[in-house]
Amino acid sequence: MQNDIKLLQILDWDSPRQNALLRDELAAGLLEPQARIAPKFFYDALGSRLFEAITELPEYYPTRTEAAIFRDNLPAIRQALGTDFTLIDLGCGSCAKAGKLFHAGILPRRYVAVDISVEFLRDSLQNLKRELPAIDMLGLGLDFTDELQLPAELPLERRMFFYPGSSIGNFSPLEAGRFLQGLAARMDRSGGLLIGVDLIKDKAQLDAAYDDPLGVTAAFNRNLLRHVNTRLDADFAVGDWKHVAFYNTDSTRIEMHLEACRTLTVRWPEAEVSRARTFAEGERVHTENSWKYSPDGFATLLTEAGFADIQMWTDPRRWFALFFARKAG
Ligand code: AVJ
Repeated sequence: MQNDIKLLQILDWDSPRQNALLRDELAAGLLEPQARIAPKFFYDALGSRLFEAITELPEYYPTRTEAAIFRDNLPAIRQALGTDFTLIDLGCGSCAKAGKLFHAGILPRRYVAVDISVEFLRDSLQNLKRELPAIDMLGLGLDFTDELQLPAELPLERRMFFYPGSSIGNFSPLEAGRFLQGLAARMDRSGGLLIGVDLIKDKAQLDAAYDDPLGVTAAFNRNLLRHVNTRLDADFAVGDWKHVAFYNTDSTRIEMHLEACRTLTVRWPEAEVSRARTFAEGERVHTENSWKYSPDGFATLLTEAGFADIQMWTDPRRWFALFFARKAG
């Protein structure tokens, strides 16, 4: 029975060096004229759970719509992926989406789960491994938005990158193009990309999805400040900040901000001195962009990044799209 034992490895990105880089990045963002915090900082353990809660909200259509697209197109998706492939899940979170594919009988040879939220990743992957012991599983706790560092031992053949949920929307179109190029560079002609993309739609629908009446998205946004307090030893008072989210029709993106309810100063230590940023009442910290695409717009982005044989599946309302593409030869 020795052959049945499969590898489950977690590489932790929470090294002192990584943490120092993240602190520098946070401090730099807070000191910019228009303060900003990158959306990857949403995902501490609680933030990952709050995001899971968002996906249950009636107003937050993307997760549900994408799941329906998967459900309605399983044979075509199975055919696109083929067999004997390595599924590389970027930002796996709870690993629920990959788990659904596996339970539907779309089984990879190997599953590589990548997420910045390493504790959440460890629990999710261990649970999945228990359900599906026959699949080789590897967990990578890393910030892949900067650079996707895959272990050298990972075979190059039949790599299928899986990037669902429209997380690509956190990149600007220019950055998204570069990121997609990076994925193309990490596969050979036998590889592919299965990616979910949120589509441009009515502003009212989009506004509601990112500013729900229950306040879960507000909690998700404001939890970022708790995470920053931990990472940076900062003293944000969460109660002083208001959730602001809206669809910017001109730039086809959701913007999320945190707005200071009164004039206040935030402090954090830095190499024995104290740094501070004063915010006037109404001043904002930009916390997220979530770009929306037209089907043609995203297909063009894929083509320009080095992909071909593009397939797209969508829902009847055309609110969300799932793309599959192969590396252009
Ligand atoms: C995880 C980036 C896809 O943009 O819809 C949800 C994050 N932010 N509600 C999105 C999010 C606010 C989500 N992504």
